[in-house]
Amino acid sequence: MGILDEDVQRVRETSDIVAVMSEHVQLKRVGRRWTGLCPFHQEKTPSFNVNQELGLYRCWGCGVTGDVITFVREIEHLDFPGAVELLAAKAGVTLRYTDQQEGESRKRKAKLIDAVGQAAAWYHARLLSSADAGQARGYLRERGLDGDTVRTYQIGWAPDAWDELARSLRAPNDVFVDSGLGFLNSRNKQTDFFRGRVLFPIFDVNGDPVGFGARKLPDGDGPKYKNSPESRIYAKSRLLYGLNWAKAAIVAENEAVVCEGYTDVIGLASAGISRAVATCGTALTEDHVRILKSFAGRVVLAFDADAAGQNAADRFYAWERQYAIDVAVAALPAGVDPGELSRRDPAALQDAIQNAVPFLQFRVNRTLDGLPLSTAEQRARAAEAALAVIAEHPNELVRDQYVMDVASRTRLDPNQLRSRVGRVPRSGLGSPARPSGVPGHPAREGPEVEALRFLVERRDEIEPWLHESLFGDPVSLDAYHLMVTHDDPRAAIGSASGEAADLLGRAVVGESDAEPMDVVVRLLQEAVRRTLSDLELAMREPEDVLAHAHDASWLKLRMEELDDPHRSVEAAEQLLAWLSQQPGAIPQDPRGLDE
Ligand code: UTP
Ligand code: MN
Repeated sequence: MGILDEDVQRVRETSDIVAVMSEHVQLKRVGRRWTGLCPFHQEKTPSFNVNQELGLYRCWGCGVTGDVITFVREIEHLDFPGAVELLAAKAGVTLRYTDQQEGESRKRKAKLIDAVGQAAAWYHARLLSSADAGQARGYLRERGLDGDTVRTYQIGWAPDAWDELARSLRAPNDVFVDSGLGFLNSRNKQTDFFRGRVLFPIFDVNGDPVGFGARKLPDGDGPKYKNSPESRIYAKSRLLYGLNWAKAAIVAENEAVVCEGYTDVIGLASAGISRAVATCGTALTEDHVRILKSFAGRVVLAFDADAAGQNAADRFYAWERQYAIDVAVAALPAGVDPGELSRRDPAALQDAIQNAVPFLQFRVNRTLDGLPLSTAEQRARAAEAALAVIAEHPNELVRDQYVMDVASRTRLDPNQLRSRVGRVPRSGLGSPARPSGVPGHPAREGPEVEALRFLVERRDEIEPWLHESLFGDPVSLDAYHLMVTHDDPRAAIGSASGEAADLLGRAVVGESDAEPMDVVVRLLQEAVRRTLSDLELAMREPEDVLAHAHDASWLKLRMEELDDPHRSVEAAEQLLAWLSQQPGAIPQDPRGLDE
């Protein structure tokens, strides 16, 4: 699957670490080393050191260290192969892949991307200077998209002609068609796909051009927007317009703003909100959420008010839980999209994003805001309507807080409403609200219990991978301490008391078909999520933001790797080492990871 080790090594040796870094850091030669201000944390005196001969760097301030590949991964937010490919391209190294087919498929993709890139450059040049683009230039100017903006986003113009792009590009038929740039007509002649439209090139997360969103001019024909057809490089359910530009800000601010259109992304950026991305003509998908979650813990929807309310609530609540991501909604004035608001009133746009509220809050507000509350009957009806919205939320504790809020806004008795919230018919489709746990028995299943079970059954396999920082639940933590301080599991169980005894009792009788390593991965994921939310709190202190943002993005990259079967073991080792070195953590047993 991966890149041949030999080629990775060659990339490492051929890349000049100082040249690569100089794109991001100002380095100064001091004797045999280079130093500069660390790009990963905020500092006034240089503690970032580079050894050019060995190709290694280290920051004495924040502790980051690595080689040229690590550096590119961290600074560009790329995965390992992505970083190696980028460096290989710079250094002119041709990569070979361990799986021949994957190599072929990557080469093919590179050809298509290359064709789209050439087309984007051609369309862009056309917009900037050709006579037939006069109307398009006027249209963009009138919409507030000036020359700088046109250049920044590489906006283009597709002439109203059959095959001008085709004739200029002279790509082989298969490349021309598979890249979505055109098709073959009935006489087998290459024909352009986009005609008479303003083009917004769409880039993938690495900044490679993969397709276009094409807007008609005000008096043009057909749908307002036409997008590139689905292809091996253009999958709209996974693409987020603007992610290539926004990703650094998304990580730094731990938040992504999601809007609907190309012009919204551009408008938000012009209002100083550079963490914005747009779906390309589709609703937000699970793939989008998964991608965003690897960059940030919070997603703010900046849709026009009607669109935001219509989103399927079930899906959002499920994603919030599954991906540990918060979904909030910015309340925009009705009928105005962010692009328009950015021109009309940028301060109002900034406020709306700043004051985004949780998705459920937004829905409750929308329900109550539209209803009269002057008579007792009206208040009862409003409360019923709000309860129907609240009932969709799967978490009882969350529901209860909103019930109290509705009670106070409708001046009704919270206990009355509370007893009704379980009974109101749910307004959406989808699965019914989950039953909450049986009272008095907090649900304590999950990886912590499974880990304890493995400590009894397959101790040698799991013990080196465990550390107390992985146990978030105090009772599990007690039980873990008991297990590791007794050689004989029976003695441990015998000496336990209270809840820990109860938990160990349940752990040893339970069964699971998981493997120890799966359990370790899940424990790590939960521990990292806990750490990330602590970091998020800590980031409210302005002077610590950068250092913490760096930790957060490092942790997120490792989290992604945990999902990758080829990299999960290494990521687990790194995460475990990191977690056990945190203040308050007790050093790991040195028997640890050597075997
Ligand atoms: P909008 O109709 O809100 O367009 O559709 P917009 O982005 O505000 O465009 P302007 O400002 O009028 O130029 C939002 C998004 O929905 C997709 C496009 O991705 C668009 O950016 N869309 C819209 C289509 O794919 N096809 C359409 O016909 C319309
Ligand atoms: Mn719009």
